[in-house]
Amino acid sequence: MTTGPVLAETREELAGLLSAPRTTGRSIGLVPTMGALHEGHASLVREARARVGEGPVVVSIFVNPMQFGPGEDLDRYPRTLEADLELCAAEGVDVVFAPGLDEVYPGGEPAVTIEPGPLARVLEGAVRPTHFRGVLTVVAKLLGLVRPDVAVFGQKDYQQLTLVRRMATDLCMGVEILGAETLREPDGLAMSSRNRYLDTEHRREAMVLHNALAAGREAGVWGVEVALESARAEVRRAKLVDLDYLVIRAADLGDLPVDVPDGTQARILVAARLGSTRLIDNMPITLGRVPTHEGAR
Ligand code: PAF
Repeated sequence: MTTGPVLAETREELAGLLSAPRTTGRSIGLVPTMGALHEGHASLVREARARVGEGPVVVSIFVNPMQFGPGEDLDRYPRTLEADLELCAAEGVDVVFAPGLDEVYPGGEPAVTIEPGPLARVLEGAVRPTHFRGVLTVVAKLLGLVRPDVAVFGQKDYQQLTLVRRMATDLCMGVEILGAETLREPDGLAMSSRNRYLDTEHRREAMVLHNALAAGREAGVWGVEVALESARAEVRRAKLVDLDYLVIRAADLGDLPVDVPDGTQARILVAARLGSTRLIDNMPITLGRVPTHEGAR
């Protein structure tokens, strides 16, 4: 029989649960989530466990209003605490921190927030201008409350992972940020809490995002232009996929040089709307040495 995680709903409860491992010098792992947990989250928990060994793994569950813009899916975002606790029990999570709004934002939105810089204005940030300020502010708070040695984020939200890493480095937060590989459904669709919004028809076409990235990656040896064209050709096969962006950027999401050196490790990223659901995905890509031009980046 698996014993479940201890549920902490307040900062005090959390601090109490973590004080013994902290004083005995055990490493603490954090997996920040917004709940609606799935197998992808379970893999993040396993990464954290592999890092902290006997130390406690904490999963935080908090749907963070600060990272949702007006008209986004804050109200309909799935809240499934009972099922989340079951998944955490099965994965041997020690503590689930599921605070209420007042616990995270006593007195409302904080006056001091994290300014995420220029990377937060492109890709996801171009359509969600306040999103990463909200993400980084809540992640900074969670890191401050849990004070983990390692925090694990999924590579599926690659821009988020990149910005969290940048914040931890730039603000000397003294925490290791680990990026765990994306888990996929059998047809390639990246696991995401938002997949459950898809109706049957959109779900059937959603795998096109993965196929496009895979085609792009395959053609990477021929350079950025060819890779992007191969990826776009896959998207054109789908009738219900409304493409938002499909780009190749440097691994840190900066611009690629005009002349890409052979073997450059980069990232191919896609975002698209399927009905009312917006999905994102990305993959690493190795680029061959073919000259690029401005429009490719
Ligand atoms: O990736 C998420 O689920 C959220 O953006 C995070 C990191 C938990 C912050 O609310």
